[in-house]
Amino acid sequence: MKRFLTPDDIGSFSKALEDARNAKNNPYADQALGRNKTLLLLFFNSSLRTRLSSQRAGFNLGMNVIVMDINKDGWQLETEFGVVMNGDKPEHIREAVPVMGRYCDIIGVRSFAKFENKEEDYSEKILNQFIELSGVPVISLESATRHPLQAFADLFTIEEYKTVERPKVVLTWAPHPKALPQAVPNSFVEWMKVANVDLVVTHPKGYDLAPEFMDGVKYEPDQRKAFEGADFIYAKNWASYSDYGKILSTDRSWTVDEEKMALTNNAKFMHCLPVRRNMIVTDGVIESPNSIVIDEAANRVVSAQVVLKRMLQYIA
Ligand code: CP
Repeated sequence: MKRFLTPDDIGSFSKALEDARNAKNNPYADQALGRNKTLLLLFFNSSLRTRLSSQRAGFNLGMNVIVMDINKDGWQLETEFGVVMNGDKPEHIREAVPVMGRYCDIIGVRSFAKFENKEEDYSEKILNQFIELSGVPVISLESATRHPLQAFADLFTIEEYKTVERPKVVLTWAPHPKALPQAVPNSFVEWMKVANVDLVVTHPKGYDLAPEFMDGVKYEPDQRKAFEGADFIYAKNWASYSDYGKILSTDRSWTVDEEKMALTNNAKFMHCLPVRRNMIVTDGVIESPNSIVIDEAANRVVSAQVVLKRMLQYIA
């Protein structure tokens, strides 16, 4: 595996899930594979889970792991072409990336949508320069449009908890005070479309995801109706795609609460975390026995380990 961004990069889901079960049951089985191999985890944005789980996955595979917060620990990078670099950015990304590639065997990079220009964000300008210029396999640790390690962990978590062959999975928008990227819901929809689930998306007017993700996906404007009979409720906020990056609603009638969860088929509650309590979800729901958010976060080690192992096999 040379890059990890979309479900196509992981191939067969049944094989990926088998690999995930093996990684979870026997996390140190492939220590020799990562010996003398170096993983760089590069962050343009904050992280708790992605940073720690990817480090842990690298350690499980016997790798050396370097973590760098580029905003604090490196030179500010210029990402535009053709600029006279007489400002506050002393290094260009087109030198920085190939240099990093000389020091490391695999690079993971987190670079969120900036919400300044839709076309620029959706062309994955930063991530694609790592893919083009690093000379090593690249993992998205959440890019402008996707968060595949989260979606893979979500898929595996649903597989672990499902009680029917084809569960009903509902992705619901929920309110938040800040403008959040669409990467998590985009990837969740992209992966669930391939998985053996009945996916329904519910959100207020103006919050449609990009057509390339929502193509062929069931949309239900009535959140309560969407919740009826659901086996999994996946809550997430995202900013508008059509009115790009804007907050159109903070309507707390969309908060996931006990009354709405009662409409479901005793659904499990999921969220990628971090989550704002009593905006996205009530204390009661997230503290309930049906909340699986901690196991979901724990499975981030598993998804990262499967991907890293395949990259190590590729470069071996
Ligand atoms: N879910 C997730 O990616 O968490 P972090 O932003 O803390 O890494």
